[in-house]
Amino acid sequence: MFNSRVKWRSLTDFTSIRCLRTQAHFASAIYFESHPISHAWCASCYTHRWHAISTDTPMTTTETIIAQATQTVSEPLRFPPGFLWGTATSAHQVEGNNRNNQWWVWEQEGRCWNGDVSGDACGWWRDAEPDLDRAQALGTNAHRMSVEWSRIQPEEGRWDDAATRRYRELLQGIRSRGMTPMVTLHHFTNPLWLEAQGGWLNPATPQKFGRFVERVVGELGDLCELWCTINEPTVYAALSYVLGHWPPGQTNVRASLRVFGNMVRGHQIAARIVHANHPAHRVGIVHHKRVLDPASPAKRDVLITALYDWVYNGRLFQVTRTHSDFFGMNYYSRDHVAFDPRAPLQMFGRRFTPDNFEQSDKGFLGVSFGEVYPEGLYRALKRVHKHLKMPIYITETGLPDSDDDQRPQFILNHLAAVHKAIRAGVDVRGVFLWSLVDNFEWAEGWGMRFGLYAMNEKTGERRLRPSGALYGIIARANAIPAPRHG
Ligand code: FCB
Repeated sequence: MFNSRVKWRSLTDFTSIRCLRTQAHFASAIYFESHPISHAWCASCYTHRWHAISTDTPMTTTETIIAQATQTVSEPLRFPPGFLWGTATSAHQVEGNNRNNQWWVWEQEGRCWNGDVSGDACGWWRDAEPDLDRAQALGTNAHRMSVEWSRIQPEEGRWDDAATRRYRELLQGIRSRGMTPMVTLHHFTNPLWLEAQGGWLNPATPQKFGRFVERVVGELGDLCELWCTINEPTVYAALSYVLGHWPPGQTNVRASLRVFGNMVRGHQIAARIVHANHPAHRVGIVHHKRVLDPASPAKRDVLITALYDWVYNGRLFQVTRTHSDFFGMNYYSRDHVAFDPRAPLQMFGRRFTPDNFEQSDKGFLGVSFGEVYPEGLYRALKRVHKHLKMPIYITETGLPDSDDDQRPQFILNHLAAVHKAIRAGVDVRGVFLWSLVDNFEWAEGWGMRFGLYAMNEKTGERRLRPSGALYGIIARANAIPAPRHG
């Protein structure tokens, strides 16, 4: 929908722009070339998406313009000093040509939506630096990336020094652009040699993961101090071993429980290794936090929701209380949960989003990625704080929104939820938006667009989405405009 170039203008250029609804000067505003100026979006009263505006002086709208006025309606909501404003990626989704892991094989077998393959992905193995320049240009001060086990240890007993050198370059590239790196040690992919031994079903895998971690923190530990051990063990166990949408495509609840248990052990071993090598470094697991609400007050819906909550959230809280300096939270949306006698594999429950709730783009099952529910982030933060009382990083949040008509508001409303949680005493240290650039979205292939930068995967061409520019304004200001209501 939006395909214009973005142009930054000085702050003073636009003090005369007002929102017709609030009569306020804009805190920040985004104008779209494809729309007349009357369709600018007002960020000073962002509970409403589109507003007419007036300008005292005529403006050119030949380009997309992002402006920030000097006057704001009310005091902005400021975040704590040193707050991390980041973006997040994972190795397989952006590097390209990760031929030596289980996902590559799965893709070649045509198991992803539309037969999509990661291919060259975003080309980061060859040349990530232009995207790091883009992150820097936005004004973000952190980036979360992951290291690919199958590159660093292509065979059991063989380490590839060239791969670690390339990761050193990437980390140096992040740091030299003024950003703090956060590194994830396992983000869904396994080397083929490990997968052939049963992957995370094998009780020996946590120890083997430990040896990999020892190597990584030894080689890269002078360049990174924030480590995520394992990304989303509950999601990996569910999609790979219960629903069968991800490799190895099993539908076996008992296997998924074993996988989850081994991943938790892997986390504990990895955390011990990081601390033993670098006592000052901070380490945490990354959990996909689902907010679950019963679809109705009926007792059976309430009970099945409680069971789901234990499986999706509760058991992970319990095992991460020790061995962690922080909690990494990925938050995307909420599920409504109903009892369903026809779904034994799903423990007789059904997760869904009723039609009348705002939803993001649809994926390969024909259902949306989920409800847009900012209040859930506040609820999730409060809950984790209550149970774990430890610093929290929001290691991922975002939505698939290819035309970017929801993302600006998503960002503002979710950040307002984070701010509310901080005011309520929750120790949130940073936010990493998923993602810097459109990338290979696992079973969804190239079908879901999460990027602050849009990318054409055929040509590699990038284009800043307006929401990306907005996130940059926020990161630089370390603040969001105060909402009018709420
Ligand atoms: C998370 C994953 C991440 C990405 C986003 C959309 O569950 O950690 O790799 O796929 O979802």
